[in-house]
Amino acid sequence: MPVANIIGIVGSYRENGVNDQLVTEILAGAAEAGATTRRVFLPDVDIEFCTNCRACMQEPGDEPGRCIHNDAMAELLDACVHADGIVLASPVNMGAVTAIMKRFMERLVALGYWPWGTPAPKMREGITPKSAVLVITSAAPTIAWRVGRFTAETTMRNVAKMLNAKRVRVLKYGLMGQQQHPTISDTQRAEARKLGHWLVSK
Ligand SMILES: Cc1cc2nc3c(=O)[nH]c(=O)nc-3n(C[C@H](O)[C@H](O)[C@H](O)COP(=O)(O)O)c2cc1C
Repeated sequence: MPVANIIGIVGSYRENGVNDQLVTEILAGAAEAGATTRRVFLPDVDIEFCTNCRACMQEPGDEPGRCIHNDAMAELLDACVHADGIVLASPVNMGAVTAIMKRFMERLVALGYWPWGTPAPKMREGITPKSAVLVITSAAPTIAWRVGRFTAETTMRNVAKMLNAKRVRVLKYGLMGQQQHPTISDTQRAEARKLGHWLVSK
């Protein structure tokens, strides 16, 4: 059986913050289950903002279109397209995913094509079907997500769909912003590790 490859995208600004710890644990679980894994800490990666020029969307075809920017996103996009599993992690900031996660997400627009003058975008066919784990954390208890109309989960689910995620699990924790140097609990660690195994299972 071919080895599964799993990529984890950390959309937090804090190295070793709770999102980073959860992603690390999920990837450790996936590795235990035999996968090759890669952790991407977004603040370390050279990703420009999308300019809405849609150059990457003009040509139909199975593979993502080319962006006008010459930065690290082309390689990262390719890795996400061909991964068997993906972890997307973000704190809830202002009710939404972080700006750094959103900047990465907007650059995924090359996964579709939408030539000028046509009514709606279409997704490309060459994206490996995959499993996804979405990690979302907030300082508020999770009950506040509904009351405050937090958009983070909806945005992450939409992006998982764009990445051709057929199976999606969400790991969400409230009450996470209380310490300067937080450590995830043993229960959270175990839940994350289990999801790493789930990512590799069929
Ligand atoms: C700029 C900013 C905005 C935030 N907005 C919210 C919010 O709207 N709701 C909430 O519950 N927590 C909010 N938080 C708390 C973060 O969600 C929390 O600190 C984070 O989940 C911890 O993740 P990390 O350790 O990976 O950084 C905010 C934190 C910052 C710094």
